[in-house]
Amino acid sequence: MSAPARLAVLISGNGSNLQALIDAIAANQLNARIVLVISNVPSAPGLTRARVAGIATEVIDHRNYWERALFDAALAEAIAPRAVDLVILAGFMRILSADFIRAFADRLINIHPSLLPKYPGLGTHQQAIDNGDTEAGATVHFVTADLDGGPAIIQAATPVEQQDTASSLAARVRRLEHLILPLAVQWCCNGRATWRDGEAFLDGQCLPPGGWRYNPADQGVREES
Ligand code: GRF
Repeated sequence: MSAPARLAVLISGNGSNLQALIDAIAANQLNARIVLVISNVPSAPGLTRARVAGIATEVIDHRNYWERALFDAALAEAIAPRAVDLVILAGFMRILSADFIRAFADRLINIHPSLLPKYPGLGTHQQAIDNGDTEAGATVHFVTADLDGGPAIIQAATPVEQQDTASSLAARVRRLEHLILPLAVQWCCNGRATWRDGEAFLDGQCLPPGGWRYNPADQGVREES
């Protein structure tokens, strides 16, 4: 087996997606090592998850930087010495500058709680309910300067139920996030998922706008109970 890929994970909050990566690595479903977790929020619970797992953490508080470029430069400086193969935005609630994105192009992915291209930005679950959508879900995509608009790698969907609230739907979608994020990371690390000329590819095949549609038979992921 090849050397474990080196991951940096950027968070702002709970870090349940970070936990899904930690768990997938521990279960040998993901051949990777998280070498750094960065949070822009000093109190983010995800930092504790990282520390419990013995992962190096850094807090880079955006409030200490008077402009985005300086904050992004501090992020890049923290990541640079760690020889990182992939940077994962897992609930990282800051918009990154084009310069940062360019510096990490091809090795920067994000998880977003909607079936992109539907509902970039915030409030995704309420929008799905308000619009009477029959399904909602989550997408992992390569990051471009276009907010939540980069080429999608994988997407998983769940039906929107009549009685759903934004929070019940978010909880169901989050369980899907925990399945597709480790899988997408594995695909990026082993070269199955690639990105060229604004399109994502899986095993050399150009993916449709929403990326690969997850189904539980996809290799290497275990259903959560
Ligand atoms: C997730 O819903 C993710 O899709 C979004 O922010 C949330 C982060 O959750 N970008 P967690 O911090 O990983 O629990």
